[in-house]
Amino acid sequence: MERLNPDKLPRHVAVIMDGNGRWAKKKGLTRIAGHQKGIDSVRNVVRTSRELGIRWLTLYAFSEENWRRPKHEVKALMNLLNRFLKAERKEMLDNGIRLNCIGQVEKLPPEVQKTLWQTIERTSQNNDMTLTLALSYGGRQEILGAVRNMLKDIEEGTLKEKQITEDRLSSYLYTADMPDPDLLIRTSGEYRISNFLLWQIAYTEIYITPTLWPDFHKERYLEALLDYQKRERRFGSTGEQIARHTKG
Ligand code: FPP
Repeated sequence: MERLNPDKLPRHVAVIMDGNGRWAKKKGLTRIAGHQKGIDSVRNVVRTSRELGIRWLTLYAFSEENWRRPKHEVKALMNLLNRFLKAERKEMLDNGIRLNCIGQVEKLPPEVQKTLWQTIERTSQNNDMTLTLALSYGGRQEILGAVRNMLKDIEEGTLKEKQITEDRLSSYLYTADMPDPDLLIRTSGEYRISNFLLWQIAYTEIYITPTLWPDFHKERYLEALLDYQKRERRFGSTGEQIARHTKG
């Protein structure tokens, strides 16, 4: 396999982890077994990102819409999340990984919230990589919340209308302190964004693979990163402008 260029790694990788259910069905297993296997891929992608020196990794672990799934599946996902957080704490501490979360976390069961905040607190001094879990997350809800909070600040006089810029709006999002993703990976071949980081992915490179999430391991991840490195990111400029800019 071609080698990755360490100077051209994405700073921030975001992942829509899809296909646990289909993977399980193909194997004649329960959907829960698919999610369980999905955890191995989470561990694998976290480790590989850390080894490569990727600074920000954001995983769509549970969407605002996922609450509509059968009760027992929601419960199983919450249990898996709780167990994952407890089991991975040591590895996060040993490897300089800071845990972060985005979304309406207050909707999660209290015991999961407790484990989550404890892990976030204990890893808060780490700064080699930030692992962000999107939990009960929805991009539209996030933007709506930002608009509401801006209005509140306008009413209280701490924000003026002419101060509302793109950067200011960004500072009201869950991702205020994070760079926008450079690369968004979606597994299991669906060509959808599914309400993930809507504002933040304006200029993000998108990589969609047919591989189901439980089969997405190091090699598949490296393929996605190599593909990203072959692309020319223009941010609305022409290719010539970019060439001139990078030369000068
Ligand atoms: C999509 O598969 C996956 C999810 C609903 C969330 C991903 C969850 C995990 C990998 C496990 C828990 C996560 C962490 C971080 C501990 P799907 O059920 O939508 O698959 P399908 O589309 O094939 O049915």
